[in-house]
Amino acid sequence: MRVLSVVGARPNFMKVAPIIRAMRRHGAPFESILVHTGQHYDVRMSDSFFRDLAMPAPDYNLEVGSGSHADQTAAVMTRIEPVLKDVSPDLVLVVGDVNSTLAAALTAKKLNQRVAHVEAGLRSGDRTMPEEINRLATDAICDDLFTTDRLADENLRREGHPADRIHFVGNVMIDSLLAALPAAREIGSAERMSLPAGEYAVLTLHRPANVDDPAKLAEIFDAILDATGDLPIVFPAHPRTAEKLTALPRVQAAAKTRLMIVEPLGYLEFLSLLTTARIVLTDSGGLQEETTVLGVPCVTLRENTERPITLEHGANRLAGVSRGGITTAIGAALAMKTQAFPPPELWDGKAAERIVQTLAGRT
Ligand code: UD1
Repeated sequence: MRVLSVVGARPNFMKVAPIIRAMRRHGAPFESILVHTGQHYDVRMSDSFFRDLAMPAPDYNLEVGSGSHADQTAAVMTRIEPVLKDVSPDLVLVVGDVNSTLAAALTAKKLNQRVAHVEAGLRSGDRTMPEEINRLATDAICDDLFTTDRLADENLRREGHPADRIHFVGNVMIDSLLAALPAAREIGSAERMSLPAGEYAVLTLHRPANVDDPAKLAEIFDAILDATGDLPIVFPAHPRTAEKLTALPRVQAAAKTRLMIVEPLGYLEFLSLLTTARIVLTDSGGLQEETTVLGVPCVTLRENTERPITLEHGANRLAGVSRGGITTAIGAALAMKTQAFPPPELWDGKAAERIVQTLAGRT
């Protein structure tokens, strides 16, 4: 079975790495081909992840780069089509909800190729989010829908997807997390950054809805800085956010005292930082899952989440993006201790193995 996997943006790499490893373990009947669309291209957003996750170099790099959603989606479609024709895979595997995910799935389906979507069925219910459109459209056309939790199964069933397409396998992102934890712990990122273990916050922020409007971004920072007292904050800034920060005087002032604005970190470096954080503040999707497994209190700076299971499991709380909501949620999260909660069902490090078993059953 020739499987062509597609990665494009930072959150894709840790999802595909364990699947490629599992295919390798099975050996024949699998032949694995990797396509990188080049949606993310900075060393710190892309190359370092290949190294940290021991991923093979891509067989194809489409080098699409940045652009509007239409430009980026169209560029992936145009450039991946000849590759899909040339390779003629038995299965195209796409993960997550980024523009590359939808573009690859759409192109492959129009070539009548079989497509599997890993992390299917997540729904925020918020159609102003580009990722929600990508999720809905990708799931609508894929043949195999691999899910991380039973709520996702329900979403897919409600949308009319036949039961035999839905496979509840667990969370591949957690496969990567559990495999990388020992190496990440060795790194000691906090110590290297002179941060007191257990006494700092980690912040990430990159959603267009939060960072593109300077007034909204200023409100979010006001709330964060007010609610965290003297706590040092490490902020690995996504490129799209970094350029907006110069216009915010309070952020610039805080950057001289307890706010450390750093470049995006590598996977292991970042994971290491998470393991000894007091609290995580984020608008990312994947971080809500990682903190759930690590038991680190997480405040999600969004109005909704496509990952409600992380709210049920104790470590995550949805703050909204108003000053009041963020202040209250940070206060409550700081009152919690880092503790191990029972992880969600099948978030056990074996999701990729289940995916590959399912596929192997068909060969
Ligand atoms: C994308 C995903 C988002 C994911 C995020 C993680 C979509 C719709 N969004 O958002 O779901 O959570 O990645 O990082 O696919 N840029 C660089 N260097 C890079 C990549 C991007 O400087 O390597 C800058 C460019 O100026 C670009 C901007 O970041 O315009 C946004 O990049 P883009 O890939 O369009 O979306 P993200 O915001 O990264």
